Amino acid sequence: MSNSDRLVLALGGAGTVGSGIVKALLDKGFKVAVISRDSSRLERLRTFVSPDTKENLTTIVGSVGSEVGAEQAKAALLDTVGKVTDIVSSLGFSWWQGGPPHSQTLKDLHWVMDTLLFSTFVSWKAFFPLVKDDSDRTYTFVTGGAEKLLMPGTGFLTVGAASTLSFCQILREEYPETACKLNQVKIDAGVASPERMAPGFLNHLELGEFVARLVEKRNCSHTVFNVRTTEDLRA
Ligand SMILES: NC(=O)c1ccc[n+]([C@@H]2O[C@H](COP(=O)([O-])OP(=O)(O)OC[C@H]3O[C@@H](n4cnc5c(N)ncnc54)[C@H](OP(=O)(O)O)[C@@H]3O)[C@@H](O)[C@H]2O)c1
Repeated sequence: MSNSDRLVLALGGAGTVGSGIVKALLDKGFKVAVISRDSSRLERLRTFVSPDTKENLTTIVGSVGSEVGAEQAKAALLDTVGKVTDIVSSLGFSWWQGGPPHSQTLKDLHWVMDTLLFSTFVSWKAFFPLVKDDSDRTYTFVTGGAEKLLMPGTGFLTVGAASTLSFCQILREEYPETACKLNQVKIDAGVASPERMAPGFLNHLELGEFVARLVEKRNCSHTVFNVRTTEDLRA
């Protein structure tokens, strides 16, 4: 199956990490679909990707963070594109500096868990059945690491990141023989677009190329790729 016969659903594809992945996948000839709650983010994504690949990008307004929303988005997606061969999930948020736990509310913690863990779980439950039984199909999680995040003011960010890491580990262990290629890219660094780069950050375009190569190759499963530096992306 050539890349042009493959349709990648990029969950979180309108975000900082996801947009780099979407551009790289399109540049490799894949068809790509992105679901976002925000039509203006999808519009920005359309102007961001290489102009000659735009016709291979499908955008759908919807929410994959609730069970009902994810099922509605799935129905709209399948109506539009027919099939999904690969899924990349980079749901969440870029950074959170809400303060130490004693200064936070339960609502803050709910928001962190909702955005990092619950959306990842709910969308996996809705979309995994589309790819799980086919060894030519892939499901790739892109997550933060938990070790380097814990610093003053980021307590709940670490709670959310650690829970997503645990969720990915559970999937690897609960589904050891799933046919589709189930992998995780774990990033222990900041990620930004070229205009917003800071020391130690990864360029979202280079990260996107790394993930696109992984999806294209389909040569491993149940593997965690630890990424800390640009060199890791070029390995
Ligand atoms: N940026 C970094 O520095 C960095 C570094 C290491 C790891 N990561 C990891 O990469 C992932 C993505 O980060 P990012 O920087 O790309 O964040 P981002 O720019 O905020 O994008 C996150 C995406 O997730 C989607 N999303 C969040 N909550 C959702 C919900 N409840 N329902 C549906 N969609 C939801 C958003 O969708 P909408 O378009 O609908 O808003 C958005 O497109 C996170 O897991 C993060 O831990 C990021």
